Formats: sequence, C-alpha cells, structure tokens
Amino acid sequence: MDGQFTRESILTLPKAEIHIHVEGCFDADELERLARKAAEPLPRTKEKLFQFDGLSSFLEFLDWSCGLIRSEEQLEELAYSFCQRLAKSGTRYCDAIINPTHWGLWHSRLGTLIDGLDRGFAAGERDGLTPVKLCISLLRTQSASAGIELVEFLLQLRHPRVVALSIDGNEASAGRTGPRFAEAFRRAKDGGLRITVHAGESSGPEGVWDAIELLKAERIDHGVRAIEDPKLVKILSERQIPLGICPTSNLKGKLYSELKAHPLETLRRAGIPVSVNTDDPGPLALTLAGEYEKCAAAFAWSESDLRAVAKTSIEASFADTETKERLLGELDRWSSTE
Ligand code: ADE
Ligand code: ZN
Repeated sequence: MDGQFTRESILTLPKAEIHIHVEGCFDADELERLARKAAEPLPRTKEKLFQFDGLSSFLEFLDWSCGLIRSEEQLEELAYSFCQRLAKSGTRYCDAIINPTHWGLWHSRLGTLIDGLDRGFAAGERDGLTPVKLCISLLRTQSASAGIELVEFLLQLRHPRVVALSIDGNEASAGRTGPRFAEAFRRAKDGGLRITVHAGESSGPEGVWDAIELLKAERIDHGVRAIEDPKLVKILSERQIPLGICPTSNLKGKLYSELKAHPLETLRRAGIPVSVNTDDPGPLALTLAGEYEKCAAAFAWSESDLRAVAKTSIEASFADTETKERLLGELDRWSSTE
C-alpha cells in the first residue's frame, strides 16, 4: 500500500513533533477572542489576518499575538490547549520552541512566563495529553550580549521544562550571525542544554554550515536549502544531523512551488535523518497528521517509509531515554492496517 494511509493509521502512528513554535499556535478564532479580551483591535480583518508580506512581517505579527497574553492563567490555558492540539494529531512527544522576544510583556519576567506555561503543560500531561519540553529561542537579529544573557539566565534557572537553546528569526534580514552567537551556544552546550538551530530556510546552505560548525547544532530546524550544496548534504548524512522539516511552511514561504518539488525526499534518500513538522500550525491552518498524509501522498511513501520518518522524529527529539525507548517500542508494534 504506497502513499495511501487511512487518517486512523496516521493518527495511531507513534511520532514526535520537534519543530513547532508556541507563538505559531494561535488560530484566527483564538486571536479574535484574545484581542477582544485585551480590548485590542485586530491589525486587519479576520479573513486577512494571516496575509503576510514575508517572514519579517510574520515575525512582527507574532509580537502582536503574544502581546495579547496578559496573565499567568492565560499562559496556562495556552499551554494546555497546545497539548490538546498535539494530542489530536496523535503526537506522542513534543519539543516546542518559544522565543521570549515575541513576549514583550514578559521580558523582565521570563521565569514567570516559563512557570505559567509549565503549569499548563503539566496539567495536560496529567490528563493524558502530549508531553512537551521547551527549546528557548534567540532571535537572529539580537546582539551577542543579549544571547549570552539569555543563556546565563537559563543556566541559573535550570528549569526542568527547558531542554534546549534554539535560534530562529529572519536570517536574510539579519545577515550572517553564526559568529555573533557562537559564544552563547558554546556556553549553553557546556551548561548541558541541547542545541537546535533554524537555518537553511531564510538562509542558503551557508547558514546550515554555520549552524553545524559555529553553533554546534545537534539538529537543524528546516535545513532544506542544504540541498543546494552536495558537500553539505554529504556531511549532514555522514554526521547524521537531523533536519526538522516543515513542508507546508516552506511552500507558504515560497521556497518551493509544490510539495512534489520540495527536497524533503531527496534529502531523506541521501541518508539524512528527516522528520515532518508543522512550524506554525495556527496561521498555516495545519495539523501534523495532515502533513504526514500530504507527504505520504506526494512522495508515494510505503509503510516502512512512514515508519522511518516517525522513527527519526522520536530519535531526533530531546525526550529522555526512557520516553524514546517506550515510543520506539510502540512504533515497532504499529501497523498501518490494524
Ligand atoms: N519563528 C516562527 N516561525 C518561524 C520561521 N518559519 N522561521 C523563522 N523563525 C520563525
Ligand atoms: Zn520554525
């Protein structure tokens, strides 16, 4: 059975989501409700809310969205509904990226921001929803000292919900920033944080080179433009550096015209560990199960292809060893025809 799976079989497939932004989880109804509560006007009509000129205007929109979250209770609710969204797609574990720069009202209270979300994630897990860990993200346009300050804060906080340092934002507008953030990432790694880096989306292969050579990324978020450099493809495959790919996000970002033209499958066939993810499921109106279905159809995946991608998602996650082993065992027992 190639490229044809029932929704049920995709839902039961044990899988992890490892490239999704907390900021990118508000849909239009939710934003309308939050804006009304905050007595803020929508920046444009609800129908056009998610029309952006490009990545920078999208990132500015995230500042506005997150600015609507004013209380710790709202943080808890947001985290809980984040877990519900994941569970609906049959996602069994999640590394979620959160970028404090988007949360202007919480800039001087980052610990409180993390604690509020933590309570919502803990409640979700108690109710049998998807377990979530956090990757705290720098923005590409920040300064070197802001990066170091964030890392030092995280290393002091040692919050059990936080597993990684990440970096996202617009590399095209920031220019080359690998050297700028090398020291922050070195300290994070020495301090025991895992490392994941957005690269090869708004940058070309050179951004991915910097991510692995300068920032010592264990995992790349996107990374798809590595395809433009055969030497880089070889290195990613030899070093088994996983890519957290978000196919529809790349189509919306106009990197590729259609899914069949997306390099995901070529990168996978070159031996690079790739996983399928949603990035910003609210504005993009996506589900993870839907992304797996679209890829299975576009790339004519067999059951073993689907299993391999799900396996990578679990192995490349920053879940603890016990969680990974349990999920990998469940994946071994999964069958698309049951
Ligand atoms: N933050 C949220 N979504 C992003 C994306 N697609 N690229 C860079 N930074 C982001
Ligand atoms: Zn992303």
